[in-house]
Amino acid sequence: MKTILITGGAGFIGSHVVDLFVEKYPNYQIVNLDALTYAGNLENLKHVAEKSNYIFEKEDITNVDAINRLFAKYQFDGVIHLAAESHVDRSILDPLSFVKTNVLGTVNLLHAAKESWKSSFEGKRFYHISTDEVYGSLSCEGKFKETTSYDPRSPYSASKASSDHFVRAFYHTFHLPIVVSNCSNNYGARQFPEKLIPLAINNIKYNKPIPIYGKGANVRDWLYVKDHASAIDLIFHQGSDGETYNIGGNNEWTNIDLIRLLCEIMDKKLGRSAGTSARLITFITDRAGHDLRYAIDSSKLQQELGWKPSLQFAEGLEKTVEWYLDNEVWMTNITTGAYQQYYEKLYKLN
Ligand code: NAD
Ligand code: DAU
Repeated sequence: MKTILITGGAGFIGSHVVDLFVEKYPNYQIVNLDALTYAGNLENLKHVAEKSNYIFEKEDITNVDAINRLFAKYQFDGVIHLAAESHVDRSILDPLSFVKTNVLGTVNLLHAAKESWKSSFEGKRFYHISTDEVYGSLSCEGKFKETTSYDPRSPYSASKASSDHFVRAFYHTFHLPIVVSNCSNNYGARQFPEKLIPLAINNIKYNKPIPIYGKGANVRDWLYVKDHASAIDLIFHQGSDGETYNIGGNNEWTNIDLIRLLCEIMDKKLGRSAGTSARLITFITDRAGHDLRYAIDSSKLQQELGWKPSLQFAEGLEKTVEWYLDNEVWMTNITTGAYQQYYEKLYKLN
């Protein structure tokens, strides 16, 4: 029996990691710690809520006393840390909240783990989930490797880079057994509709403009969220202490090509004639400091741990569209109220 702390398990990726661990490891007790910010949603976890090896704790990772208390209460064997402020556009509106959660929250967890495990680090692991954005922006060629120098360019990526540095500092200074992974853009069910794909699906459904920054020429490397969860499982169990693993889909798309493909899928699913959804594409003022291209070289993870993505993009995107269309109530519940204010503030459509 092991007790594993998963932070941010009520969010998009975290909920898929919780799903996987609760189902696959009945001998683990999974404690999901989440502050339930706008991005955290217990609806994402209703299928595991009653499982005997699952516990939810509503808590903020920046709360020093509460985190220490939870480490004392559960005597965690491992931590998989996903809780974060995760949206680049929000980091442009409010950088400080990213420093607070992503940097201070991570250091608070590292410190609590170090203190709780100080008698012996044997069998313990602190796994920090990070992003490819810490490496900066690529031109047309090359891919990010684990050895690529950090060059974060948004408040979000700067806060994640800072947290990565602290995680590695705890390894080098205190020998805390850590592992880090840096992943490319995820897509799939339960992603908050501030991110490109669910936002576009929702707007297409209601015949609203699809906002595309600049000319839509920016490139992202898309990975199905369950493939990220399977990589996390593998790295948590078989990765080496102090190591970093890049995770990516080997699946680069310009935003405009991706949205055109999405429009085709949506036309078919909604029974609209070809070209209807694409007419909603609206080019708007570019995101400040918009990184041109991300692409991940995941050969280390593939060769050392035998991981590979399971789904082709067209198939994954179709499954994703189906999930959002089948889960209208989930979308309605989170796009009323505060979402409207956020949307109006960010997108002054021109
Ligand atoms: P998300 O925004 O969907 O979920 C974040 C979760 O963290 C939410 O449940 C939220 O309530 C919780 N949270 C936020 N602040 C908290 C706090 N102070 N205390 C406790 N809980 C808090 O994010 P996501 O897209 O699922 O990303 C999860 C992690 O993966 C993040 O660390 C992110 O940087 C990283 N990541 C994301 C992607 C991606 O494409 N989405 C890619 C690579 C890495
Ligand atoms: O690369 C990994 C990162 O991917 C994660 O670390 C982040 O948590 C996650 O949010 C994501 O960041 P991006 O900024 O790449 O994702 P987003 O979905 O916000 O945007 C994807 C691309 O689409 C990006 O080039 C900006 C563009 N875009 C986005 C939105 C929301 C638009 O053109 N219009 C939009 O309305």
